[in-house]
Amino acid sequence: MLLASGRGSEIYALDGGRVLRRFKAGGDPHREAEVMRYARSRGFPVPQVLDVMDDALVLERIPGPTMGALLRRWPWLLPAQAAELARLHRLLHTIGAPPGSPVAGPGDRLVHLDLHPENVLVTSAGPVVIDWTNAAMADGALDVALTWVVLATSGGTGGSLFCRFFLRHFERGSLVGALPRAAAFRLADRNVTDGERDRVRRLLERYCAPD
Ligand SMILES: Nc1ncnc2c1ncn2[C@@H]1O[C@H](COP(=O)(O)OP(=O)(O)OP(=O)(O)O)[C@@H](O)[C@H]1O
Ligand SMILES: [Mg+2]
Repeated sequence: MLLASGRGSEIYALDGGRVLRRFKAGGDPHREAEVMRYARSRGFPVPQVLDVMDDALVLERIPGPTMGALLRRWPWLLPAQAAELARLHRLLHTIGAPPGSPVAGPGDRLVHLDLHPENVLVTSAGPVVIDWTNAAMADGALDVALTWVVLATSGGTGGSLFCRFFLRHFERGSLVGALPRAAAFRLADRNVTDGERDRVRRLLERYCAPD
């Protein structure tokens, strides 16, 4: 049964509490499995990788809605969930990137580079982070700034409000410094629409206009 069809993959429910994540194009299941296992071994909440194929991963099925779906249903949870997403960023960035990681900029931290409310599943045992396609080595500020870009340019009105609460948990100066790199990373993504691209450029002009 098809559970979800995202920009990068299709997710099918399998028996035994498992899902199949079949890549549409561009992804590398072997690399993604490696980084997921690495992050999990360092104590970060990631689904267990059960099998790796050339075009798909078999993952532990996480029982819970995405943080985005949770907030569409219970919007008053927004401040607490924004704090939770900020906590996940901080926790991830305590982990050094594994050797051989793609380099996305200066810094030696493990970064997810798509860590926003649609890539967090919320369970009674805590949040679990999915969709590790972009994982790389960089500084944590790039990861947080990229979440800022995604929330402000792809998340609608709810995204903008969430963004305001999320950004309160970080020092603004270092994020503005990382914003041009985050915007460039987002603009290089083939799955980003023309409308989203315009909004990314406008965000950049607003915060990083040359004087
Ligand atoms: N391990 C899992 N357990 C349960 N559901 C999952 C799991 N992995 C993915 N899903 C479901 O599939 C959806 C898409 O997953 P994911 O973000 O990994 O795919 P994607 O194709 O990269 O999506 P997008 O391109 O839209 O970000 C999730 O929102 C979630 O509903
Ligand atoms: Mg996703």
